[in-house]
Amino acid sequence: MRKIPVIMDCDPGHDDAIALIMAFASEKLDVRAVTTSAGNQTPEKTLNNALKILDYIGVDVPVAQGAKHPLLRELEVAPEVHGESGLEGPEIPDATSKPLEMPAIDLMRKVIMESEEKITLVPTGPLTNIAMLLLAYPEVKVNIEQISLMGGAAYGGNWTPAAEFNILVDPEAAKIVYDSGLPIIMAGLDVTHKAMIMKEEVEIIRDLDSKVGIFVAELLDFFVKFHDEVWKLPGCPLHDPCAVAYLIAPEIFESKQYAVDIETKGEFTTGMTVVDFNHQTGKEENVKVLLGVDRQKFVDLIVNLVSKYK
Ligand code: RIB
Ligand code: CA
Repeated sequence: MRKIPVIMDCDPGHDDAIALIMAFASEKLDVRAVTTSAGNQTPEKTLNNALKILDYIGVDVPVAQGAKHPLLRELEVAPEVHGESGLEGPEIPDATSKPLEMPAIDLMRKVIMESEEKITLVPTGPLTNIAMLLLAYPEVKVNIEQISLMGGAAYGGNWTPAAEFNILVDPEAAKIVYDSGLPIIMAGLDVTHKAMIMKEEVEIIRDLDSKVGIFVAELLDFFVKFHDEVWKLPGCPLHDPCAVAYLIAPEIFESKQYAVDIETKGEFTTGMTVVDFNHQTGKEENVKVLLGVDRQKFVDLIVNLVSKYK
């Protein structure tokens, strides 16, 4: 079975960490590189978190740091969600591995242009690095299969009433990516808030009794606590894992193809992913908007992938 070659572009972040753990465990994916974005925390902290996670789960893959801030705007981080470190909760050892000297877009370009198969990009944070890659090296588009991203929402937002965090942090970058014409799989809040793991299901992962299983359970303990206290939810939405899970098991998701624009100017709507439900814009419908998921199969997939770490 041919593996899907991917590059993970992430801002760990609790759910980014779980998405990385899933991607490396899946027999369907071949993670060629990890790049880090600024979003959940500062670029230094998300890079450090990514290196710690990769060392802890025992994988060796090229890592490069991305942009220090959004294309045009000041960086907005989310300590209230992921803590001061960006990975609050579990205690794992400091990283011993080092990132490459080259910037993220150069690593992405190298991996993409040297690959025999087209690469799938999996951004789970703000889209700054992806936009910069497409601006600096437009030639890479010929060898990009698709972009499976976590971001946006057909309805509503989680950082403002109209915008989801990843898109809002860098809406100009998101507009460049969505307007690129590349096929996009959009795991927005519509699906991620259905892709919830409940408190009692976290215990299934903890009972795997492996170091990675306990790490994931402790990440979820923190994330569940935040969503209980702030959103009064019975568990936590697993946002970033949806962008990975779709590549592994697309059959558990419901989706529709739409044209999607990004609002970059609205006083109340900046960062909104404007989904053209009624085909009014005449634009290319290059975005597969994920709208539903079989929650039990999603959770079972996560448990199965985490169980592969001994
Ligand atoms: O809105 C959810 C997204 O913002 C997730 O990617 C989470 O990690 C944060 O980056
Ligand atoms: Ca993220």
